[in-house]
Amino acid sequence: MTGSNPVAIEAINLMKDYGRGENAVHALRGVNISFEQGRFTAIMGPSGSGKSTLMHTLAGLDSASGGRIIFDGAELTSMNDNQLTLLRRHRVGFIFQSFNLLPMFSAEQNILMPLTLAGEKPDRSWFKVLVETLGLEGRLSHRPNELSGGQQQRVAIARALISKPAVVFADEPTGNLDSVSSAEVLSFLKQSVKELGQTVIMVTHDAVAASYADRAIVFADGRIVADETDPAAERMSELLMEERDCVTRSSAAPTVAQRMSDSLADTKDFPCGQ
Ligand SMILES: Nc1ncnc2c1ncn2[C@@H]1O[C@H](COP(=O)(O)OP(=O)(O)O)[C@@H](O)[C@H]1O
Ligand SMILES: [Mg+2]
Repeated sequence: MTGSNPVAIEAINLMKDYGRGENAVHALRGVNISFEQGRFTAIMGPSGSGKSTLMHTLAGLDSASGGRIIFDGAELTSMNDNQLTLLRRHRVGFIFQSFNLLPMFSAEQNILMPLTLAGEKPDRSWFKVLVETLGLEGRLSHRPNELSGGQQQRVAIARALISKPAVVFADEPTGNLDSVSSAEVLSFLKQSVKELGQTVIMVTHDAVAASYADRAIVFADGRIVADETDPAAERMSELLMEERDCVTRSSAAPTVAQRMSDSLADTKDFPCGQ
């Protein structure tokens, strides 16, 4: 980890199980991590490794089974439903792969929706900054189906930022976008961190997307297995391939030949997630 910004959010021995007994899925197996304010972190890892579960528990959208979350100095894991609702409304922004805009409302209405629902007046100058930064000036009266995918996601980013949340969570925000729109969306997320001081945590499958971040974490089977500062796309691809090879090796009983080649492989950088 670099820098010494104050911590925005911290997980301490965080656990999440789905179901009970023999059928239980251990989605988070004791995660310890802290995210600094004003930084952009990518979370990578195979499908089913617990990335979305981590985001949902950190954002107070889902409860933890064990451990603690300290959100902007407050203990999220001991909050009641009312406190969690307020936290989600005022302190958290969420960006989804599928944009999740309301089809009957204009771009402007969608951006302002979190404030409308909370019965609050928008800060017009902040709205203007967001709209200009995201290049949405000419699109405010359009409905989502009159906008391209990239434009829809930019509206969703503005909606996530409108309440000046402590943390913005983005779960595969470029998963439905072409490469040009992806680059646009990633640049805006990066800009919101550099210029507006926003804290952003983003799940992505894409090593190039992760390279926009200040830091990238690799997740496997409910645990953190790598933590890279200033991640280069090539390095992240390497780590993901090594992780995939670890999964392939551990899912079948290794043959003698495999054991031999394993012991020859250089695993000091990446000890198969253990
Ligand atoms: N609501 C749920 N009920 C039961 N199991 C779930 C639920 N959500 C996720 N899981 C399981 O938890 C594990 C982690 O899932 P998830 O966090 O969605 O992974 P990722 O986002 O990395 O693909 C997977 O085994 C998944 O099947
Ligand atoms: Mg997911």
